[in-house]
Amino acid sequence: MTRFLWPRSLGGRTALVLLVSLTLVQVAGLAIHAFDRTDALRFAQLRNIAVRAISIYRTVALADPDSRDEVVQAIDAREGAVVRLSDAPPVSTIPPAYPELQRILRVNMQLVPMRPADRPRDYVWLGGAAAGRLMIGMRLPDGTWVNVTVPMPRVRWLLSGTFLVAFLVMTVAAAGLTLWAVRRLTAPVATLAAAAERLGRDLNAPPLPEDGPAELATAAAAFNIMAARMRRLLADRNFMLAAIGHDLRTPITRLKLRAEFIEDEELRRKSLADLDELEAMVSATLAFGRDTLSDEALASIDLAELLRTLLDEAADAWPDAAERLAYAGPDHLTVGARPIALKRALTNLVGNAVKYGGGARLTLAAHDRMATVLVDDDGPGIPPEEAERVFQPFVRLEASRNRETGGVGLGLTIARNILRAHGGDVAIAARPGGGTRATATLPR
Ligand SMILES: Nc1ncnc2c1ncn2[C@@H]1O[C@H](COP(=O)(O)OP(=O)(O)O)[C@@H](O)[C@H]1O
Ligand SMILES: [Mg+2]
Repeated sequence: MTRFLWPRSLGGRTALVLLVSLTLVQVAGLAIHAFDRTDALRFAQLRNIAVRAISIYRTVALADPDSRDEVVQAIDAREGAVVRLSDAPPVSTIPPAYPELQRILRVNMQLVPMRPADRPRDYVWLGGAAAGRLMIGMRLPDGTWVNVTVPMPRVRWLLSGTFLVAFLVMTVAAAGLTLWAVRRLTAPVATLAAAAERLGRDLNAPPLPEDGPAELATAAAAFNIMAARMRRLLADRNFMLAAIGHDLRTPITRLKLRAEFIEDEELRRKSLADLDELEAMVSATLAFGRDTLSDEALASIDLAELLRTLLDEAADAWPDAAERLAYAGPDHLTVGARPIALKRALTNLVGNAVKYGGGARLTLAAHDRMATVLVDDDGPGIPPEEAERVFQPFVRLEASRNRETGGVGLGLTIARNILRAHGGDVAIAARPGGGTRATATLPR
């Protein structure tokens, strides 16, 4: 309910505030117009009544005193007003007309041309708009009162049809314009949010256009600078990694040549093994730098298809485990990713499952905005306290210290790096029933 009344989006809120203000202003305008119109109508009505009253008075005043009664009757019938001649001013239960009304009547009566001597000696006013009629008593020079009662139609509050139509058209147009302007003005904010979201997945996303209103152009420029700095930082890091890896290779090669001359066979074997390991680590480091220096372009790929391919390749590489490779999930699921990098990340997870767990069961699931890949195996599992540590570079658990199983401890580091660069992540944990589960997520 509150969500409906107070929308969450900036555009919605701005539009709401503007529309409510617009409505208030329009209602106020409408009221002012209605009051004004009522006043003007009332004024015209009173002037009309005043002129009529005084002309009746004039007719009576100028008539021969003997024929006054006939004159009065004739007027009575003609004017739609009740005219009575009396010795006294009108008395009535209806309240006296309010002063403003009296003033208007008096002023208008002065406008009728008449000899000052013929003008009424005295006035009495009774009734007003509320009473529905007006009684005016005017004293003739001879002391007789001419008492006129005229109906006073109510001034209708209702507005004319054309006005209402014009008013509606105006309101709708203003509201439409407001919505359009709000949408236009707040659109860049959404663009900025989308760009920030996108940068999380793709550092090489094209820069934001730095146009539009000044504040937003500044924000876009700041955002572009930030993105550029992040790119440079990452590039520097990877460049350094590659340089170190490269420069270590030459001395290792020299050492290996020299180690060949070690007399003691046991010592020579161990030294060469260590140097081999060192070389493998350097190669892996170089590969790591290469992998994460991701200028590979984002593409739409079928994740389900990719996972099945990985299993095929795993079956070729480890025929013994072919029985224990399985895929469950949709036939097709498209995600935006860097194909080679993503394949490397998932290959590492599948490779681990096969090497340390003897097989891999892949489960693909699509959620609202994420796709998850579960890589399950029935191996020894991972102690909870090691679950984060295995993602650190060169960390290998004691049980897998055996170099025969393969890597140097960079597989998970690389996998996490790649998935995080996509806006996803990977975690690893022991499954309650035994075995390990690696959970990779990827935005769709
Ligand atoms: N599925 C798994 N089951 C048991 N242990 C695992 C599994 N995956 C990874 N590990 C442990 O995490 C360590 C780090 O993995 P990784 O980074 O891929 O390096 P590497 O495979 O080169 O040893 C492995 O040495 C292994 O001890
Ligand atoms: Mg590995």
